[in-house]
Amino acid sequence: MIASYSRIFTALCALASTAAAVTPLKVDGKDFVNSESGDRFQIIGIDYQPGGQSGFSKKKDPLSDPETCLRDAALMQRLGINTIRVYNLEPSLNHDKCVSYFNGAGIYMILDVNSPLDNGSLNRGEPWTSYNPVYFKQVFGIIEAFKSYPNVLGFFAGNEVINEDAQYLVPAYVRAVIRDMKDYIAKHSNRTIPVGYSAADVRNILMDTDRYFECNMKNSTSSQADFFGLNSYSWCGKASYKSSGYDVLTDDFSNSTMPVFFSEYGCNEVKPRVFTEVQALYGEEMTQAFSGGLVYEWTEEDNEYGLIKENKNGSVSLLIDYSNLQDQFSKLDMDRIESSNSSQTSVKREECSADLITSKKFLNAWNLPTRLDSINKYIENGLPNKPFGSLVSVSSTSVPVKIYDHNGKEITDIKYEVLKNGEVNKPSATGTSTSSTSSDSSSSSGSSGSSTGTSSASTGTATGTNAASMNGASTVLLGGVSGFFMLLASIL
Ligand SMILES: *[C@@H]1O[C@H](CO)[C@@H](O)[C@H](O)[C@H]1NC(C)=O
Ligand SMILES: *[C@@H]1O[C@H](CO)[C@@H](O)[C@H](O)[C@H]1NC(C)=O
Ligand SMILES: *[C@@H]1O[C@H](CO)[C@@H](O)[C@H](O)[C@H]1NC(C)=O
Ligand SMILES: *[C@@H]1O[C@H](CO)[C@@H](O)[C@H](O)[C@H]1NC(C)=O
Ligand SMILES: *[C@@H]1O[C@H](CO)[C@@H](O)[C@H](O)[C@H]1NC(C)=O
Ligand SMILES: *[C@@H]1O[C@H](CO)[C@@H](O)[C@H](O)[C@H]1NC(C)=O
Repeated sequence: MIASYSRIFTALCALASTAAAVTPLKVDGKDFVNSESGDRFQIIGIDYQPGGQSGFSKKKDPLSDPETCLRDAALMQRLGINTIRVYNLEPSLNHDKCVSYFNGAGIYMILDVNSPLDNGSLNRGEPWTSYNPVYFKQVFGIIEAFKSYPNVLGFFAGNEVINEDAQYLVPAYVRAVIRDMKDYIAKHSNRTIPVGYSAADVRNILMDTDRYFECNMKNSTSSQADFFGLNSYSWCGKASYKSSGYDVLTDDFSNSTMPVFFSEYGCNEVKPRVFTEVQALYGEEMTQAFSGGLVYEWTEEDNEYGLIKENKNGSVSLLIDYSNLQDQFSKLDMDRIESSNSSQTSVKREECSADLITSKKFLNAWNLPTRLDSINKYIENGLPNKPFGSLVSVSSTSVPVKIYDHNGKEITDIKYEVLKNGEVNKPSATGTSTSSTSSDSSSSSGSSGSSTGTSSASTGTATGTNAASMNGASTVLLGGVSGFFMLLASIL
């Protein structure tokens, strides 16, 4: 009985929420575009993993605690964010409410399919040992759990798997994972969800990595990546387009035939961060090569890259970096950022061949590992006992926790707003921040990223709620729980 009630409930919510969903995006040449309007989409994003990697478990991931998601969706809305990236997710958890909050706020999601748990990712030392069905339960499980949400922008098949320590054959294994994911999506999803790779900024193999995944293979067309993320921390403090090396990156990627973006940026060697790179990243030169980027990262953890801090008493403090970033976003020319350009979308991929690769240490052959029978079966028949997610209704509401600015003053006007159908969140032109940025003007341009995507802090004042429980979130359901019972009563 309980089960069927919840099924009716889910069906109802799915019905109601179809009214306010973002429009799925697709890849067109080297741009992301809105699949209905054709407008260009550039990522104004944030990396989202509250509690860091160590805060992740089979029972809790960043999209399983609705109250935290509501709070963060509201704060990101105010900041002007249109995309989050989440690193570690557990397929079996219920993500409906969190995803619906972000969707309602006009925010897309790029999701890594890997997990830090056993068999949850490729082993860069000996990739053949981890290319197994246990690993693909995680990978295909994430696809199943998220494929039905319209605000999934894409999946990352891997994050920084290739670096100086990686075994020579690793690129072929990552490309095989991309192939397997795309074959799975083609068979089991009614929308083509793009699949990409997120690279470490190891400059001497960066372009080889890009070309290895980008080129076309006649005998395995599904194995080419749909987009390329770069984790880059080379702009520190008030650096410049040249001193940061952004000019070189722009040159390097100007001929790319797939969307490229910063999957992490925001060097913190100079504090507070002033985020002057935002104007370069979304400026006229760089937007020919890049589709925006994601700032590392949302919550303050031990490595001190946060924009907000979760306090022990359950309140949240917006750090000065949040205000500084908001000021930068508020200056962006969104009309130009969203305008499409046919020379961006008409690019053609090159065929894979050894002369695309310049480093002697980088794999220059594309004989990908063959798929094991067990993995083939998953692709043919779908994952057994697959998880399923779908949107539920959410409505505009106030945020249930206290929010302080970086001076400790309470901010009371923060609201979560459900946007109109098809609308995407954007920075507001009137930066509300009153802070003036007060960093010293020294600029440094560190050459390689410090920490990347694996923050270890566990500062979380985790509310530890069970995602499946309606507790605490009932007030935000459209029609509410009472509507549900009324309907139930009319059925019975
Ligand atoms: C990881 O995968 C290997 C190979 O399939 C398997 O032997 C091992 O038991 C798995 N570990 C876990 C924790 O599932
Ligand atoms: C997509 O698939 C789901 C079930 O997997 C189905 O309910 C839905 O109607 C499909 N949507 C479209 C647009 O075909
Ligand atoms: C990009 O393409 C142009 C024209 O084909 C070529 O002249 C230029 O060298 C290429 N740039 C890079 C970085 O490959
Ligand atoms: C269109 O894109 C091309 C190549 O990226 C660029 O050279 C050109 O300036 C762009 N045109 C406009 C109007 O932005
Ligand atoms: C909660 O903690 C923050 C930071 O320590 C503090 O500024 C704030 O006053 C506290 N709020 C309450 C209601 O105790
Ligand atoms: C597929 O094509 C690539 C290069 O285009 C080649 O390296 C690889 O050996 C081919 N694989 C098979 C199975 O023919």
